[in-house]
Formats: sequence, C-alpha cells, structure tokens
Amino acid sequence: MNAYATVLITGANGLLGQKLVTDFHPHYKVIACDLHPESFFSFPNLSYENLDITDRRQLGFHISFYHPQVIINAAAYTDVDGCEIHKDKARAVNVGGVRNLVSFCREQKIKLIQLSTDYIFNGENGPYFEEDPPDPVNFYGETKLESERIIKESGVDFLIIRTNVLYGFGKNVKSNFLLWLLEKLSQNEKIKIVTDQFNNPTLADNLSLCILEMVKKNISEIYHIAGSEYLSRYDFAIKVADKFNFDKNNILPTKTELLQQKAKRPYKGGLKIDRAQSILETKLLSVNQALEYLIKSKQTFRELSAPLL
Ligand SMILES: NC(=O)c1ccc[n+]([C@@H]2O[C@H](COP(=O)([O-])OP(=O)(O)OC[C@H]3O[C@@H](n4cnc5c(N)ncnc54)[C@H](OP(=O)(O)O)[C@@H]3O)[C@@H](O)[C@H]2O)c1
Repeated sequence: MNAYATVLITGANGLLGQKLVTDFHPHYKVIACDLHPESFFSFPNLSYENLDITDRRQLGFHISFYHPQVIINAAAYTDVDGCEIHKDKARAVNVGGVRNLVSFCREQKIKLIQLSTDYIFNGENGPYFEEDPPDPVNFYGETKLESERIIKESGVDFLIIRTNVLYGFGKNVKSNFLLWLLEKLSQNEKIKIVTDQFNNPTLADNLSLCILEMVKKNISEIYHIAGSEYLSRYDFAIKVADKFNFDKNNILPTKTELLQQKAKRPYKGGLKIDRAQSILETKLLSVNQALEYLIKSKQTFRELSAPLL
C-alpha cells in the first residue's frame, strides 16, 4: 500500500487501536475513530472522529469524506462475559458493525482488515491452524465467527487476523490480563489464576507492527498472529511476577470450573503462527521478550498507568 494511502482505524482508543494509530501515523494518513468524543491521546495532525460502527449513516459519512483505501476494524465489544449477558449489544457491534463496514468496503473498493480471535475455536485441541474448523463455546466467539463469515462471503479484499490474550499498556485502556495482574501484585493481594487454560499471549505493540508490515505488503486472507510461546495463564502470571519483581507466592493455582465465569472458555485455545512467521519480517515475541520490551518502556507505563502502581 503506497505511503500516501489513507487508513481509517476504528476502535482507535482501545488497546490495539492506540498501538495501530501510533505505528501507522508516520507512514500513512491516519483517521482514528472511536465511540468517545475525543481521542485518548494525540499527535500533531491526527484526524480523530467520533464514530459508532453500528451507525450506518455516520459511518457512510466519514468514509465518503475521507476516502480511505484501507479500514482496520479494531472496534469490538470485547467483554467476553458481558457478551453472554448483553447479547443484543454483542451482536450489534461485533456482527452489525462489521456488516456495515463490509457494505461500504464493497461499494467503494476499500480493503478491510478485521481483528478476530482464537475464541472461534472450542479449545479441545489447540493451538489452532488457520484452516481448522471453528466451533465457538461462547457468544463472543459466535459473534466474531459470524463477522468472519460475512467478510469472507462479501467479495471484498480482506485480511482477517486472529489473535489471542492481547496485553499491554495504553492510555485509559480497559484492564487487560497484564494490567489486572500488575495491579493486584503491586498491592500484594493474593490472586487465583487458572492452570487449565492455555494460549499464546500477544503483546499488542508486537501485533500492531505485524499489521503495519502486512498493510505495506498488501497481504490478504486469514492469518494467526500471536505471541510465540504457548503456556497456561498461571505460567504466564508467574513470568510476569518474575520480570516485574513481585512476589510469586501471591499467585495461587486454580481451575476454570471454580471461577464460575458467565462465558465458557476454551481450555486448549491459542493459535499456530507458522503461516504468519513464514511471511513476516517482524518477529513474534516470546513472553519474556515482550515483558522485557515493556520494562524498557516502563517510564511510559508509569505515566500511563500511574493509578495502578
Ligand atoms: N483483548 C483480547 O484479548 C483480544 C483477543 C483476541 C482478539 N481481540 C480482538 O482484537 C480487537 C481489538 O481488541 P482490544 O483488546 O484492543 O479491544 P478494546 O481495548 O476493548 O478496544 C475496542 C475499542 O472499540 C470501541 N468500541 C466498542 N464498540 C464500538 C462501536 N460500536 N463503534 C466504535 N467503537 C467501538 C471500544 O470503546 P469502549 O471501550 O467505550 O467500549 C474500545 O475503545 C477486537 O476486535 C477484539 O475482538 C482481542
């Protein structure tokens, strides 16, 4: 995609959205969009629009005004338990919003990049390859799978990127597993973490750079992009405590069934990343590499997450 192209990013105030805006901004004309009236952060000359992807009229207006060549949809209702309770909202955002995007992308020949998840798989025998049969065990997974189907059947030029357990620091972002963990560990609280859910946690900063490379190379179809290490949530938490010098004894092992979460979780989830690794120069990071990267940018973390530590 040439350097003067316009890239519209939805969900720009979210964890991944913030990284995408930061990474794409030096290379493309970026239009950052999110539900909130203002951007959570700013750059000189950054165009920000208040946009709800479920509002077809508003979406059509911004797309006609900016004429993007690429839309990256990082907007979603991502609260997995919330999706189980608020099914209408989950369907409206994760399916209806994507249907809206698809219709404008088809009409105006815009490439659509959609973020999806390993939660489209049932977690019986992960990690999964791109072509493995989906079988979601919760409503969030169902909505994300349905959005994939709409995109694949639409005839638009698309790139679907499935990822899992996104973590990182960002300004005003919702808590993610890492932030929650650091908050609890820094307060010396005892926490229970499951030993029976496996995946390959993904540093949002790492994923964003992969997406930038894929846009530059104009890659299409479906790719799994995730961290290079497959481990349990418990083992991930122990590594975090180790790297950030918190007391590991505060992390207690537990089992998924004891948590009584609203939404079922895949046990052996996660994603095989061989296909992405075969085309990407950007290296997919192990947990330790990713945590070291975060520790190096600790000043930023302390600024961004000041209330937490
Ligand atoms: N987080 C994970 O572990 C994970 C794993 C696999 C895949 N993914 C996928 O990766 C993508 C990015 O995830 P993330 O963790 O960066 O999510 P996030 O932090 O929750 O960000 C999503 C952003 O989208 C906004 N949004 C929600 N509804 C919207 C709407 N109707 N119109 C426009 N914006 C809307 C949210 O605003 P509010 O905060 O106000 O709702 C938020 O700013 C999503 O597609 C997600 O499904 C995430």
